[in-house]
Amino acid sequence: MNVSDIERVTVLGAGSMGHGITEAVALAGYHVTMRDIEQDLVEEGYGNIEWSVEKLAEKGFVDQDPAEVMGRIDTEVDLETAVQDADLVIEAAPERMSLKRDIFSDLDEFAPEESILASNTSSLSITEIASATNRPEQVIGMHFFNPPVKMDLVEVIYGEETSDETAQAAYTFAETIEKTPIYVRKDINGFVVNSVLGPFVNEAGWMVSEGVATVEEIDAAMVHRQGYPMGPFELSDLTGIDTGYHMRKEAGKEVPPVVEEKVEAEDFGKKTGKGYYDYEDSEGTTYE
Ligand code: 3HC
Repeated sequence: MNVSDIERVTVLGAGSMGHGITEAVALAGYHVTMRDIEQDLVEEGYGNIEWSVEKLAEKGFVDQDPAEVMGRIDTEVDLETAVQDADLVIEAAPERMSLKRDIFSDLDEFAPEESILASNTSSLSITEIASATNRPEQVIGMHFFNPPVKMDLVEVIYGEETSDETAQAAYTFAETIEKTPIYVRKDINGFVVNSVLGPFVNEAGWMVSEGVATVEEIDAAMVHRQGYPMGPFELSDLTGIDTGYHMRKEAGKEVPPVVEEKVEAEDFGKKTGKGYYDYEDSEGTTYE
Protein backbone atom coordinates (compact mmCIF):
# COMPACT_ATOMS: atom_id res chain seq x y z
CA MET A 1 0.00 0.00 0.00
CA ASN A 2 1.31 3.45 -0.95
CA VAL A 3 0.34 6.61 0.87
CA SER A 4 -1.65 7.71 -2.22
CA ASP A 5 -3.87 4.64 -1.71
CA ILE A 6 -4.82 5.74 1.79
CA GLU A 7 -8.24 7.32 1.68
CA ARG A 8 -10.12 5.93 4.63
CA VAL A 9 -8.64 5.86 8.11
CA THR A 10 -10.00 4.23 11.25
CA VAL A 11 -8.79 5.07 14.74
CA LEU A 12 -9.46 2.54 17.49
CA GLY A 13 -9.98 4.31 20.81
CA ALA A 14 -11.65 7.62 21.65
CA GLY A 15 -9.56 8.38 24.74
CA SER A 16 -6.99 11.16 24.97
CA MET A 17 -4.75 9.73 22.25
CA GLY A 18 -7.50 8.21 20.08
CA HIS A 19 -9.62 11.33 19.83
CA GLY A 20 -6.57 13.54 19.33
CA ILE A 21 -5.26 11.35 16.48
CA THR A 22 -8.74 11.30 14.92
CA GLU A 23 -8.79 15.10 15.09
CA ALA A 24 -5.35 15.48 13.48
CA VAL A 25 -6.35 13.10 10.65
CA ALA A 26 -9.69 14.87 10.05
CA LEU A 27 -8.03 18.30 10.07
CA ALA A 28 -5.81 17.08 7.23
CA GLY A 29 -8.93 16.41 5.13
CA TYR A 30 -9.25 12.64 5.54
CA HIS A 31 -12.47 10.82 6.23
CA VAL A 32 -11.97 9.06 9.56
CA THR A 33 -13.95 6.64 11.68
CA MET A 34 -13.34 6.72 15.44
CA ARG A 35 -14.30 3.54 17.26
CA ASP A 36 -14.46 2.70 20.95
CA ILE A 37 -16.08 -0.16 22.83
CA GLU A 38 -19.00 1.85 24.28
CA GLN A 39 -21.23 4.56 22.89
CA ASP A 40 -20.57 6.84 25.91
CA LEU A 41 -16.82 6.72 25.29
CA VAL A 42 -17.24 7.50 21.61
CA GLU A 43 -19.51 10.44 22.39
CA GLU A 44 -17.10 11.82 24.98
CA GLY A 45 -14.22 11.62 22.51
CA TYR A 46 -16.31 13.28 19.78
CA GLY A 47 -17.21 16.10 22.21
CA ASN A 48 -13.54 16.59 23.05
CA ILE A 49 -12.66 16.90 19.35
CA GLU A 50 -15.47 19.43 18.87
CA TRP A 51 -14.15 21.51 21.79
CA SER A 52 -10.61 21.39 20.48
CA VAL A 53 -11.41 22.19 16.82
CA GLU A 54 -13.56 25.14 17.86
CA LYS A 55 -10.81 26.43 20.13
CA LEU A 56 -8.17 26.08 17.40
CA ALA A 57 -10.46 27.86 14.90
CA GLU A 58 -11.25 30.67 17.37
CA LYS A 59 -7.53 31.26 17.90
CA GLY A 60 -6.83 31.23 14.18
CA PHE A 61 -4.68 28.05 14.27
CA VAL A 62 -7.16 26.33 11.98
CA ASP A 63 -8.54 27.97 8.89
CA GLN A 64 -11.50 25.60 8.40
CA ASP A 65 -15.14 25.57 9.37
CA PRO A 66 -15.30 23.37 12.53
CA ALA A 67 -18.57 21.82 11.29
CA GLU A 68 -16.84 20.67 8.10
CA VAL A 69 -14.03 19.06 10.08
CA MET A 70 -16.55 17.30 12.34
CA GLY A 71 -18.45 16.19 9.23
CA ARG A 72 -15.43 14.13 8.19
CA ILE A 73 -15.61 12.06 11.40
CA ASP A 74 -17.86 9.02 11.82
CA THR A 75 -18.19 7.20 15.12
CA GLU A 76 -18.69 3.50 15.61
CA VAL A 77 -18.84 0.87 18.34
CA ASP A 78 -18.77 -2.32 16.29
CA LEU A 79 -15.18 -3.23 15.36
CA GLU A 80 -15.99 -5.10 12.16
CA THR A 81 -18.06 -2.23 10.75
CA ALA A 82 -15.43 0.31 11.81
CA VAL A 83 -12.55 -1.30 9.91
CA GLN A 84 -14.16 -3.07 6.96
CA ASP A 85 -13.25 -0.29 4.47
CA ALA A 86 -10.16 1.10 6.19
CA ASP A 87 -6.91 1.58 4.26
CA LEU A 88 -5.11 2.47 7.47
CA VAL A 89 -6.10 1.50 11.02
CA ILE A 90 -4.42 3.27 13.94
CA GLU A 91 -4.98 1.46 17.22
CA ALA A 92 -4.93 3.57 20.40
CA ALA A 93 -6.22 1.16 23.04
CA PRO A 94 -4.84 0.84 26.61
CA GLU A 95 -1.24 -0.31 27.03
CA ARG A 96 -1.68 -4.04 27.60
CA MET A 97 -0.04 -6.54 25.30
CA SER A 98 -2.79 -9.18 25.60
CA LEU A 99 -5.45 -6.60 24.68
CA LYS A 100 -3.44 -5.29 21.72
CA ARG A 101 -2.83 -8.82 20.42
CA ASP A 102 -6.56 -9.61 20.63
CA ILE A 103 -7.37 -6.42 18.73
CA PHE A 104 -4.78 -7.09 16.01
CA SER A 105 -6.00 -10.64 15.58
CA ASP A 106 -9.53 -9.26 15.02
CA LEU A 107 -8.17 -6.57 12.69
CA ASP A 108 -6.46 -9.22 10.61
CA GLU A 109 -9.82 -10.90 10.20
CA PHE A 110 -11.99 -7.81 9.56
CA ALA A 111 -9.82 -5.18 7.83
CA PRO A 112 -9.17 -5.37 4.04
CA GLU A 113 -6.23 -7.61 3.15
CA GLU A 114 -4.04 -4.81 1.84
CA SER A 115 -4.65 -2.33 4.68
CA ILE A 116 -1.91 -1.15 7.02
CA LEU A 117 -2.39 -1.88 10.71
CA ALA A 118 -0.63 0.65 12.96
CA SER A 119 -0.33 0.73 16.73
CA ASN A 120 0.03 3.92 18.74
CA THR A 121 1.60 1.93 21.57
CA SER A 122 3.95 3.99 23.74
CA SER A 123 6.40 1.20 24.39
CA LEU A 124 5.15 -2.32 23.64
CA SER A 125 6.84 -4.55 21.07
CA ILE A 126 5.52 -4.01 17.54
CA THR A 127 6.96 -7.43 16.60
CA GLU A 128 4.90 -9.15 19.29
CA ILE A 129 1.72 -7.24 18.36
CA ALA A 130 2.32 -8.04 14.67
CA SER A 131 2.70 -11.75 15.39
CA ALA A 132 -1.00 -11.88 16.30
CA THR A 133 -1.72 -11.31 12.58
CA ASN A 134 -0.95 -13.12 9.32
CA ARG A 135 0.41 -9.90 7.82
CA PRO A 136 3.28 -8.78 10.08
CA GLU A 137 4.89 -6.97 7.11
CA GLN A 138 1.89 -4.60 7.13
CA VAL A 139 2.02 -3.89 10.87
CA ILE A 140 3.88 -0.81 12.12
CA GLY A 141 4.15 1.50 15.12
CA MET A 142 2.85 5.04 14.72
CA HIS A 143 3.45 6.68 18.06
CA PHE A 144 1.84 10.10 18.52
CA PHE A 145 2.37 12.44 21.48
CA ASN A 146 -0.14 14.05 23.77
CA PRO A 147 -1.95 16.26 22.83
CA PRO A 148 -1.72 14.79 19.30
CA VAL A 149 -3.26 17.81 17.63
CA LYS A 150 -0.55 20.08 19.04
CA MET A 151 2.50 17.81 19.21
CA ASP A 152 4.48 17.60 16.03
CA LEU A 153 6.42 14.34 16.38
CA VAL A 154 5.37 10.86 15.27
CA GLU A 155 7.66 7.87 15.83
CA VAL A 156 7.32 5.35 12.98
CA ILE A 157 8.54 2.07 14.46
CA TYR A 158 9.63 -0.98 12.50
CA GLY A 159 8.68 -4.38 13.87
CA GLU A 160 11.09 -7.16 12.87
CA GLU A 161 8.98 -8.07 9.85
CA THR A 162 7.63 -4.65 8.84
CA SER A 163 8.23 -4.03 5.13
CA ASP A 164 9.91 -0.85 3.87
CA GLU A 165 6.82 -0.20 1.77
CA THR A 166 4.61 -0.15 4.89
CA ALA A 167 7.10 2.02 6.78
CA GLN A 168 7.33 4.51 3.91
CA ALA A 169 3.55 4.74 3.62
CA ALA A 170 3.17 5.38 7.37
CA TYR A 171 6.00 7.95 7.31
CA THR A 172 4.55 9.83 4.36
CA PHE A 173 1.06 9.64 5.86
CA ALA A 174 2.40 11.33 9.02
CA GLU A 175 3.86 14.08 6.84
CA THR A 176 0.55 14.42 4.99
CA ILE A 177 -1.22 15.17 8.28
CA GLU A 178 1.44 17.81 8.96
CA LYS A 179 3.47 15.90 11.51
CA THR A 180 7.21 15.37 11.61
CA PRO A 181 7.95 11.64 11.59
CA ILE A 182 11.16 9.87 12.53
CA TYR A 183 11.94 6.22 11.85
CA VAL A 184 12.70 4.05 14.87
CA ARG A 185 14.57 1.15 13.31
CA LYS A 186 14.81 -1.15 16.32
CA ASP A 187 11.78 -2.35 18.21
CA ILE A 188 13.16 -1.50 21.67
CA ASN A 189 10.96 -0.94 24.74
CA GLY A 190 9.91 2.73 24.88
CA PHE A 191 11.29 3.50 21.39
CA VAL A 192 13.22 6.82 21.32
CA VAL A 193 11.16 9.32 23.33
CA ASN A 194 9.84 7.15 26.15
CA SER A 195 13.27 5.56 26.62
CA VAL A 196 14.38 9.02 27.72
CA LEU A 197 11.13 10.33 29.22
CA GLY A 198 10.30 7.22 31.31
CA PRO A 199 13.36 7.42 33.58
CA PHE A 200 12.90 11.22 33.87
CA VAL A 201 9.30 10.90 35.12
CA ASN A 202 10.15 7.87 37.26
CA GLU A 203 13.09 9.57 38.98
CA ALA A 204 10.83 12.51 39.83
CA GLY A 205 8.31 10.06 41.36
CA TRP A 206 11.01 8.48 43.56
CA MET A 207 12.11 11.92 44.77
CA VAL A 208 8.56 12.76 45.91
CA SER A 209 8.11 9.33 47.48
CA GLU A 210 11.36 9.75 49.42
CA GLY A 211 10.56 13.34 50.53
CA VAL A 212 13.39 14.97 48.58
CA ALA A 213 11.07 17.67 47.17
CA THR A 214 7.36 18.18 46.50
CA VAL A 215 5.46 17.69 43.26
CA GLU A 216 5.16 21.47 42.87
CA GLU A 217 8.84 22.10 43.59
CA ILE A 218 10.08 19.53 41.10
CA ASP A 219 7.73 20.77 38.36
CA ALA A 220 8.76 24.37 39.04
CA ALA A 221 12.45 23.41 38.88
CA MET A 222 12.05 21.75 35.49
CA VAL A 223 9.90 24.54 34.02
CA HIS A 224 11.56 27.63 35.43
CA ARG A 225 15.15 26.48 35.60
CA GLN A 226 15.37 23.85 32.89
CA GLY A 227 13.02 25.39 30.33
CA TYR A 228 10.73 22.38 29.86
CA PRO A 229 7.15 23.25 28.76
CA MET A 230 5.80 21.14 31.66
CA GLY A 231 7.31 19.45 34.69
CA PRO A 232 7.21 15.64 35.03
CA PHE A 233 4.06 15.62 37.20
CA GLU A 234 2.01 18.02 35.08
CA LEU A 235 3.11 15.94 32.08
CA SER A 236 2.00 12.71 33.79
CA ASP A 237 -1.38 14.30 34.54
CA LEU A 238 -1.66 15.14 30.85
CA THR A 239 -0.56 11.78 29.46
CA GLY A 240 -2.34 9.73 32.18
CA ILE A 241 -0.64 8.42 35.31
CA ASP A 242 -2.17 5.01 34.52
CA THR A 243 -0.54 5.02 31.06
CA GLY A 244 2.95 5.47 32.50
CA TYR A 245 2.17 2.92 35.23
CA HIS A 246 1.11 0.22 32.74
CA MET A 247 4.07 1.06 30.51
CA ARG A 248 6.54 0.37 33.32
CA LYS A 249 4.67 -2.64 34.71
CA GLU A 250 4.48 -4.28 31.27
CA ALA A 251 8.25 -3.80 31.01
CA GLY A 252 8.69 -5.48 34.43
CA LYS A 253 10.01 -2.27 35.99
CA GLU A 254 9.45 -0.91 39.50
CA VAL A 255 7.04 1.98 40.08
CA PRO A 256 7.51 4.63 42.81
CA PRO A 257 5.00 4.50 45.73
CA VAL A 258 3.49 7.89 44.81
CA VAL A 259 2.48 6.47 41.42
CA GLU A 260 1.05 3.28 43.01
CA GLU A 261 -1.05 5.48 45.34
CA LYS A 262 -2.47 7.57 42.49
CA VAL A 263 -3.34 4.49 40.44
CA GLU A 264 -4.97 2.77 43.43
CA ALA A 265 -7.10 5.89 44.06
CA GLU A 266 -7.89 6.06 40.31
CA ASP A 267 -6.56 9.62 40.22
CA PHE A 268 -5.14 9.29 36.72
CA GLY A 269 -4.71 13.01 35.95
CA LYS A 270 -6.65 15.44 33.79
CA LYS A 271 -8.96 12.80 32.37
CA THR A 272 -10.33 11.89 35.82
CA GLY A 273 -10.27 15.49 37.13
CA LYS A 274 -7.52 14.70 39.64
CA GLY A 275 -3.94 13.48 39.53
CA TYR A 276 -0.97 15.21 41.07
CA TYR A 277 -3.04 18.39 40.66
CA ASP A 278 -6.80 19.05 40.89
CA TYR A 279 -8.59 19.96 37.66
CA GLU A 280 -12.26 19.94 38.65
CA ASP A 281 -12.67 23.18 40.59
CA SER A 282 -9.36 24.88 40.09
CA GLU A 283 -7.01 26.09 37.42
CA GLY A 284 -5.00 22.86 37.61
CA THR A 285 -1.36 23.40 38.39
CA THR A 286 -0.43 25.78 41.19
CA TYR A 287 3.33 25.84 41.04
CA GLU A 288 3.63 28.92 38.83
N1 3HC B 1 -6.81 21.43 21.51
C1 3HC B 1 -7.01 22.75 21.48
N2 3HC B 1 -6.52 23.58 22.42
C2 3HC B 1 -5.78 23.01 23.40
C3 3HC B 1 -5.53 21.64 23.48
C4 3HC B 1 -6.08 20.83 22.47
N3 3HC B 1 -5.92 19.51 22.47
N4 3HC B 1 -4.77 21.38 24.56
C5 3HC B 1 -4.55 22.56 25.16
N5 3HC B 1 -5.17 23.54 24.47
C6 3HC B 1 -5.26 24.94 24.77
C7 3HC B 1 -5.48 25.18 26.26
O1 3HC B 1 -6.81 25.06 26.63
C8 3HC B 1 -4.99 26.60 26.40
O2 3HC B 1 -6.00 27.49 25.99
P1 3HC B 1 -6.21 28.93 26.69
O3 3HC B 1 -4.98 29.71 26.35
O4 3HC B 1 -7.43 29.48 25.99
O5 3HC B 1 -6.41 28.66 28.13
C9 3HC B 1 -3.87 26.62 25.38
O6 3HC B 1 -4.04 25.54 24.47
C10 3HC B 1 -2.53 26.42 26.02
O7 3HC B 1 -1.75 27.16 25.26
P2 3HC B 1 -0.32 27.56 25.80
O8 3HC B 1 0.12 28.67 24.93
O9 3HC B 1 -0.34 27.72 27.28
O10 3HC B 1 0.47 26.29 25.57
P3 3HC B 1 1.03 25.81 24.18
O11 3HC B 1 -0.05 25.69 23.16
O12 3HC B 1 2.21 26.62 23.85
O13 3HC B 1 1.51 24.39 24.61
C11 3HC B 1 1.44 22.14 25.07
C12 3HC B 1 0.66 23.44 25.14
C13 3HC B 1 1.69 21.81 23.59
C14 3HC B 1 0.59 21.03 25.69
C15 3HC B 1 2.81 22.34 25.83
O14 3HC B 1 2.55 22.63 27.16
C16 3HC B 1 3.69 21.14 25.75
O15 3HC B 1 4.41 20.95 24.79
N6 3HC B 1 3.70 20.31 26.82
C17 3HC B 1 4.47 19.09 26.84
C18 3HC B 1 3.67 18.02 26.18
C19 3HC B 1 4.49 16.79 25.94
O16 3HC B 1 5.67 16.70 26.19
N7 3HC B 1 3.81 15.77 25.40
C20 3HC B 1 4.39 14.52 25.16
C21 3HC B 1 4.13 13.66 26.31
S1 3HC B 1 4.83 12.08 26.13
C22 3HC B 1 3.67 11.21 25.32
O17 3HC B 1 2.62 11.67 24.95
C23 3HC B 1 4.05 9.83 25.05
C24 3HC B 1 2.98 8.89 25.43
O18 3HC B 1 3.42 7.62 24.98
C25 3HC B 1 2.72 8.81 26.92
